[in-house]
Amino acid sequence: MNDSLKNDVFLRALLRQPTPYTPVWMMRQAGRYLPEYRATRAKAGDFLTLCQTPDLACEVTLQPLERYPLDAAILFSDILTIPHAMGLGLKFETGEGPLIERPIRCATDVVSLAKPDPNQELRYVMDAVSLIRKELNGRVPLIGFAGSPWTVGTYCVEGGSSRDFARIKGMMYDDPKSLHTLLSTLTDITINYLNSQIAAGAQAIMIFDTWGNVLSPANYREFSLHYMSRIVDGLQREADGRIVPRIVFTKGAGPLIAEIAKVNCDAIGVDWTTDLSEARRMVSDSKALQGNLDPCVLYASPEKIREQVAKVLASYGYGNGHVFNLGHGIHPTINPEHAGAMIKAVHELSPAFHQ
Ligand code: CP3
Repeated sequence: MNDSLKNDVFLRALLRQPTPYTPVWMMRQAGRYLPEYRATRAKAGDFLTLCQTPDLACEVTLQPLERYPLDAAILFSDILTIPHAMGLGLKFETGEGPLIERPIRCATDVVSLAKPDPNQELRYVMDAVSLIRKELNGRVPLIGFAGSPWTVGTYCVEGGSSRDFARIKGMMYDDPKSLHTLLSTLTDITINYLNSQIAAGAQAIMIFDTWGNVLSPANYREFSLHYMSRIVDGLQREADGRIVPRIVFTKGAGPLIAEIAKVNCDAIGVDWTTDLSEARRMVSDSKALQGNLDPCVLYASPEKIREQVAKVLASYGYGNGHVFNLGHGIHPTINPEHAGAMIKAVHELSPAFHQ
């Protein structure tokens, strides 16, 4: 893995080092809004097979980079590969979202959990990472990722997506010890999994905590942030002579951003419900920030998109430590040209903030 990195603006921004412009990538940048993604998924047959076939996972990872001058690639996979590898049975039914066939419902389920070996059951992920690194050939850095234990835990306990999180919250109040055992097991597995991704070639790591925002602040600290902090502390800090930056993203974290800043991460993902200026004040420039354009801005015209990009850049303000992104994943019904307009606007407007 001695390819020299031609564009390291993203990695430098995460470490709050000077950059000539603000780097940009999009959460869910490979996905259903791209016709070429839909074609590859049809070739694979279904989403899980696509994730498990390194050639095809590599192909879809690179698709958005062929279209746009993005500053980072993100591994094509899913946060639910872990419960899948634990043997809980994962299915993606069209239009239904993910389904876990054997959810974790009681203390006995929790003690008998299998800990998969990332180089066995999740070998396909590591193979995809090495292949993508080879194909990228140093163009931009590759992001590896996992879900937060709390977020992955919600799928394991609820058996799929949830509106009220009744089962996992019931468990949290009734039997917190069992929930802690589950989260701790997921944490150990995730540390191993992410370190294997780093060994295979991931150059930055992002932890997705989509559902931490359904918790009270005290429960967020105890059941979500604590475990993300353990993961960050367990990660390999360097690979190939470079620091591997870590990004922690809790959707809707808002006022909790100051708490997240106590974690040993390099950057914090921010969604559009918090102004970047406010988030920057909360972290007192101790962390880089990633975000935070409302993904629905991309439904507007390219001219309006440019105006909104300018607002996000101005909200972060002058200086280093900003990675431009959407505040959450790109919607499947977005016109791909509009994503292009956003990326172009970031590259054209951001140098003014870096003089
Ligand atoms: O960002 C990227 O392009 C990398 C790939 C990626 C996917 N999922 C691909 C995917 C990443 C980083 C994820 C993370 C993920 N997966 C999260 C956390 C981030 C977030 O969006 O909040 C969560 C909660 C999941 C779980 C998951 N996977 C759900 C709820 C769904 C179904 C909802 C949906 O959008 O259909 C998935 C499926 C999924 N993961 C798709 C993709 C491209 C859609 C599959 C398809 O129909 O082709």
